[in-house]
Amino acid sequence: MNLVDRDAANIFHTYKRLPLHIERGEGSYLITKDGDRYLDMFAGIAVNALGYNHAIVNAAILNQVGKYLHVSNMFYQEPQVLLAERLLQESGYSKLFFCNSGTEAMEGALKLARRWGSPKGKRTIIGLSESFHGRTYGSLSITGRDKYREGFEPFLPGTTIAKFNDVASLEKLTSAETLAVVVEFVQGEGGVNPVSKEFASALRELQKKYGFLLIADEIQTGIGRTGKLFAFNHFDITPDIVVVAKALGGGLPLGAFLGSKELGDVLTPGVHGTTFGGNPVACAAGLATLVQILDHGVMRNVQTVGAHMKNQFGILQSRFPQKIKEVRGLGLMLGVEMYADATTIVDSLQSRRVLVNLTQGTVLRWIPPLNLTVADAELALASFESTLQ
Ligand SMILES: Cc1ncc(COP(=O)(O)O)c(C=O)c1O
Repeated sequence: MNLVDRDAANIFHTYKRLPLHIERGEGSYLITKDGDRYLDMFAGIAVNALGYNHAIVNAAILNQVGKYLHVSNMFYQEPQVLLAERLLQESGYSKLFFCNSGTEAMEGALKLARRWGSPKGKRTIIGLSESFHGRTYGSLSITGRDKYREGFEPFLPGTTIAKFNDVASLEKLTSAETLAVVVEFVQGEGGVNPVSKEFASALRELQKKYGFLLIADEIQTGIGRTGKLFAFNHFDITPDIVVVAKALGGGLPLGAFLGSKELGDVLTPGVHGTTFGGNPVACAAGLATLVQILDHGVMRNVQTVGAHMKNQFGILQSRFPQKIKEVRGLGLMLGVEMYADATTIVDSLQSRRVLVNLTQGTVLRWIPPLNLTVADAELALASFESTLQ
């Protein structure tokens, strides 16, 4: 049996996998067992911020592997403290909690919010339509897409969904009982949809009026993806809780939620915890990655290469107005919405050795490594242009 058949025979069939047998990665490229090189424009769904096989990240991992792979969270762990210090210093938040994944970080954020708000009589957590926050029950309860929810009811009590970028819908659902509103400032799975300035401003006003917590889901957008540390930094707004994962562990599983000063003392010993969360190897990889992004020009690269790609997509849109409906996004998180189902475009790009992700059926989501070179961006753009032709 080949790998595809053995996978099908043994693993629950929940993923639509690409028919490629990847052997290794190198920079922004994935190399198959047959030696074919693919330019990866979705980077492990925004996990591999520095691409594959990055020498500095690998060295940090090996250094920690030589010390210890795991000790329980009953011990103080320097890699956790170093990463926490840098992240909090950079973001201005007060405390954080490490876990293993995006959805787990969101669960922790919801628990932090409930622990803060329940004694105040605040109950309702509001998610937004087209959002995606993960697959566990808290996250799923505030995820606004039927595709992920169908068949999994009933959801967490005290959760509801308002319409994304619809101020009236948000106003209608918020009250003094609102505990939190959870927002992706650029929706990822939902189709690379940035929050509008009006919606951000309404969020700020309603937050002031009712005193609810604003939770930013920065799992996909965080750690430099949009050209700033967090996507909400593009808006004049300060969330109370920030949820991160994906790029945080530099390719290893790591998530975290960050809390503002006001929330610093809400969680006390024993009320929340995890066995694996904050794994020292993942924290070491994460710190090495963060330092590259912040101190070694990667964030600047996101801004320049991202702006160039967006501009070029705009030019392609004006040349192919019947095909491209809209170009949107920030930094190296770009969406090109087509008028029709874009499966054939994705397949055609793949035959040209460029991998791009499709979301919502019509939106090409470009989320490459943050250190993508201009030459590789040009290659992707040229392949896209040939495909359109
Ligand atoms: C915005 C957002 N939130 C939450 C998640 C869930 O993260 P994980 O798959 O690590 O649980 C994702 C994953 O794609 C995401 O993009």
